[in-house]
Amino acid sequence: MDESKDLSVDTRVVRNKPYKKPVNPLSTPIFSTSTYVLESAEHGKLLAIDKEKAGSSPWLYSRWSNPTVDVAEHYINDLEHGKGTLAFSSGMAAVSTALISVLRSGDHVIAPEPVYSGTFEILNETLRSFGVETTFVNATDSNAFSEAVQDNTRVIYVESPANPTMSLTDLWEISSIAKSHGLISMIDSTFASPINQNPIDLGIDVVIHSATKYLGGHSDIIAGSVTCATPELHKKIYQTRKLLGGMLSPQDAFLLIRGIKTLAVRMERHNSNALQVAEFLESHPKVHRVYYPGLISHPQYELAKKQMRGFSGMIAFEVEGGLEAGKKMIEDLSVIELAVSLGGVESLIEHAASMTHGMIPREERLRGGVTDGLLRLSVGIEYPEDIIQDLNQSLSLL
Ligand SMILES: Cc1ncc(COP(=O)(O)O)c(C=O)c1O
Repeated sequence: MDESKDLSVDTRVVRNKPYKKPVNPLSTPIFSTSTYVLESAEHGKLLAIDKEKAGSSPWLYSRWSNPTVDVAEHYINDLEHGKGTLAFSSGMAAVSTALISVLRSGDHVIAPEPVYSGTFEILNETLRSFGVETTFVNATDSNAFSEAVQDNTRVIYVESPANPTMSLTDLWEISSIAKSHGLISMIDSTFASPINQNPIDLGIDVVIHSATKYLGGHSDIIAGSVTCATPELHKKIYQTRKLLGGMLSPQDAFLLIRGIKTLAVRMERHNSNALQVAEFLESHPKVHRVYYPGLISHPQYELAKKQMRGFSGMIAFEVEGGLEAGKKMIEDLSVIELAVSLGGVESLIEHAASMTHGMIPREERLRGGVTDGLLRLSVGIEYPEDIIQDLNQSLSLL
């Protein structure tokens, strides 16, 4: 039927006209749609109950799922060796939705010190106000996790490498502890990226990323992901995302997919640039300490080699002269930008205690190794000598 002859212009301009011919684009289209035309009333009913039952057109509403977002999820799931991945509107939406999906009032969580400040606040404030208690333990001490297990413990949560100290948690030991007590193990693996570390292969149940960082890679989106080791966990977290509404937008999913296509190449460069920068910093007389798991001096170098394939672009360090010297140093840089966030192609530096981790009380912050003068450097993919030269000139002014 040629509808245009019979309908008024008011109706014609808003009519949905889906493509009738098959199209076969190389890059993923942005399906910028909130809803989908249903094949029949029965199709709609089936979708509302269970999208798996609805056949070839499994989309009902874009807070639930979306074809562009599906592709981003497929990519991450493949990279993380998962049994199902969900994409989110931010890393924090991913962290909070994963936790809320499996926790109930009266449950207990074991979490590491240090941990990303947003995660600390979700556990210590939001979830505590709903009756979920968290015990924070030394991230590097597997025995401390084991000893903290209570009758009501439900989740062991870790972050490795940790933001910002680059300390590691032994993932194989943590997953074994979780399995032996029937607990769910979760990791925030943002700092490693799936190129350098695959926690599901080490027995971890849930792998979270702030896809804002390495997965996106260009500092142009806010996004997150959760990859599950079992279809049951995936289904549970899918249901909670649907209700809390932290779904990734199709536009950002497109940028995430584009970023992921170069992830392996970018990580190769981040890994090699960061190692060179870490070695330079370690040899500099005005640098007090460097924390990078690829350095032989890192106390967990052997563990890093065991559970990671590369050591990422993140470095923490302290300069001689502490906080004041550190502040001066980060303001005197010119190639490296002063900004929070990480994992993009540009090198960024920040002061952890006052910026990303300023919300954590000082006592807890220090217990996690986030000292007052600690600087966090996200080494980009620029020519390594340019990054080193910039650091050198700034250190020479101290
Ligand atoms: C390790 C880690 N996890 C989670 C987040 C939160 O991610 P987003 O800012 O995408 O919500 C961040 C943000 O910096 C982070 O560094």
